[in-house]
Amino acid sequence: MENTFQCLLVTQQEAGGFNLEVTQKSIQDLPAGDVLVRVRYSSLNYKDALSASGNRGVTRNYPHTPGIDAAGVVEESSHPDWQHGNEVIVTGFDLGMNTSGGFAQYIRVPAKWLVKLPQGMTLRESMTYGTAGFTAALSVAALVRNGVTPEKGPVVVTGATGGVGSVAVSILHKLGYTVQAVSSKTTSQDFLTSLGASEIIPRAEMEDQSGKAMLKTRFAGAVDTVGGNVLATVIKSVHYGGTVTACGMVNGGELPITVFPFILRGIQLAGIDSVEFPAEQRPAIWQHLATDWKPANLESLAHEITLPDLPEAIQTILKGKMQGRALVKID
Ligand SMILES: NC(=O)c1ccc[n+]([C@@H]2O[C@H](COP(=O)([O-])OP(=O)(O)OC[C@H]3O[C@@H](n4cnc5c(N)ncnc54)[C@H](OP(=O)(O)O)[C@@H]3O)[C@@H](O)[C@H]2O)c1
Repeated sequence: MENTFQCLLVTQQEAGGFNLEVTQKSIQDLPAGDVLVRVRYSSLNYKDALSASGNRGVTRNYPHTPGIDAAGVVEESSHPDWQHGNEVIVTGFDLGMNTSGGFAQYIRVPAKWLVKLPQGMTLRESMTYGTAGFTAALSVAALVRNGVTPEKGPVVVTGATGGVGSVAVSILHKLGYTVQAVSSKTTSQDFLTSLGASEIIPRAEMEDQSGKAMLKTRFAGAVDTVGGNVLATVIKSVHYGGTVTACGMVNGGELPITVFPFILRGIQLAGIDSVEFPAEQRPAIWQHLATDWKPANLESLAHEITLPDLPEAIQTILKGKMQGRALVKID
């Protein structure tokens, strides 16, 4: 094992702004932790773009290496649960936020952040999903848990061409749901259809301006990834007893809605958090992603990039223009 390794480093400039460069770090620069992992793949999520552009709500101190996802092989471990050579996935917790992240050849993390790579999944596939896919799976799990079955009617996915959205469309299609996709991208019709969406709804149609407390019902359930007025419109459009999951806020952190859909239609709003999701419940979700929830088209959900490609990809995701997932090949 060499003492230095490659990583993406984000540095705050004296003149303001943040500089991104691929550079070398030494193993001693990594934080203390139980397990040193040689990273093979990472992936790009919206939160990484926030970290890489100086969002203090995500990352307090710079220089910093982002990357909330990593998949690789245990190099050294001082914890009895993990041995040299184990293939592992790390997503969420503090990785890439205030702990040096997965856009690097090595990470060092607490043992409880690691999930064993499930049978039926490669390291590459695990990062094709990454946090976005794990979040999509948590969202689908909430619908299933609340009894939104394919027979109940169509399920809508918002931000459908994005990371969470595209994986959600694919999983729901695999599970036999009729999936309707909300997207702003007029050029993504073919992509969304190939994932299994049966109808594409322009985003403008899901930004209700009528001020009505409830709208005509059209969905049995929803996976919302954008928040704001889109989420409010979705909640107002779900059938009696339906469930809407909420994980994101690119459309806004405010939720302009009344209590009426909840108290007159019994709608449930299920909050989704992938960051602090309990470690002991994670393997079951990854097991679904490795087996019965694995979309036939998983490969086509992501395009592969490398560390030097990240600055451009980060700009694309910040502008809301990313289609599918960006898989980062590290090693
Ligand atoms: N709670 C959690 O644990 C968790 C985990 C992962 C992600 N997230 C959050 O989930 C959201 C999506 O993450 P992601 O990684 O999938 O990001 P992403 O790849 O950038 O996807 C977001 C998608 O939302 C749509 N969009 C962009 N700007 C929008 C706007 N102003 N209004 C409405 N829709 C807009 C776009 O899709 P279309 O062009 O197709 O409409 C975009 O591709 C982010 O807010 C992220 O922070 C939360």
